[in-house]
Amino acid sequence: MLVAAAARGEEREIYAEELEAINGRFVTLRPPREDDAEKAYEWDRDPELAAWNGRSPIRISFAAARRDYLARWEDSSVKTFIIEARDGGVSEAIGLATLYGFRRTGCELGIKIGPESLRGRGYASEVVELLVGYCFDTLGLQVVRGSTLSHNTRMQRVFEKCGFREVGDGSIISRFDNKRYTELFYERHRDG
Ligand SMILES: CC(C)(COP(=O)(O)OP(=O)(O)OC[C@H]1O[C@@H](n2cnc3c(N)ncnc32)[C@H](O)[C@@H]1OP(=O)(O)O)[C@@H](O)C(=O)NCCC(=O)NCCS
Repeated sequence: MLVAAAARGEEREIYAEELEAINGRFVTLRPPREDDAEKAYEWDRDPELAAWNGRSPIRISFAAARRDYLARWEDSSVKTFIIEARDGGVSEAIGLATLYGFRRTGCELGIKIGPESLRGRGYASEVVELLVGYCFDTLGLQVVRGSTLSHNTRMQRVFEKCGFREVGDGSIISRFDNKRYTELFYERHRDG
């Protein structure tokens, strides 16, 4: 199994296993479906979300974006999860999380909560905890990495709450506004 090879520290690409839904207390992480393309497009066009990610909002048509999403969601070297929040009996897609950059014994994690009104409610903290558990317990990885801009206090707080350690920083030119920012790098290791 490729993941087991990675856990032994061999230098090769690794691929996550087939994904099933991961259920937490308030959120469910599930594989994307075709009908998630509209929400993904809405979030990728949002200038504020783009700025937090150091990107420009996408400007391609929905049809072109949809083709890209479906290809990406089929790509086994990137694991995309739709974040659903449960409210009573109703579940709603509120964001997206990805595991990518699988190499050696670790991977990287990215996350966004789409609607501004749903940020700061603890959803990302639960999602990151669930994903870390999935990386360590299901995929057998040893380290999960993440990064964020130095003014993204919410994301920094999420990393800290989820047991990540700041391991360094770097300089990045944001494609959103072509300005230079500081990026902070975080890691959480399986054994402390
Ligand atoms: C960053 C993001 C993923 C965090 O998700 P979230 O669901 O809002 O995070 P949580 O609610 O789990 O935790 C946020 C923490 O930051 C704190 N916080 C710090 N600054 C805050 C602010 N300006 N507004 C709200 N909360 C803030 C909250 O109090 C909370 O900590 P606490 O539980 O100790 O009170 C989400 O806000 C988001 O999608 N932002 C836009 C995109 C983005 O920045 N993605 C990450 C790119 S690296």
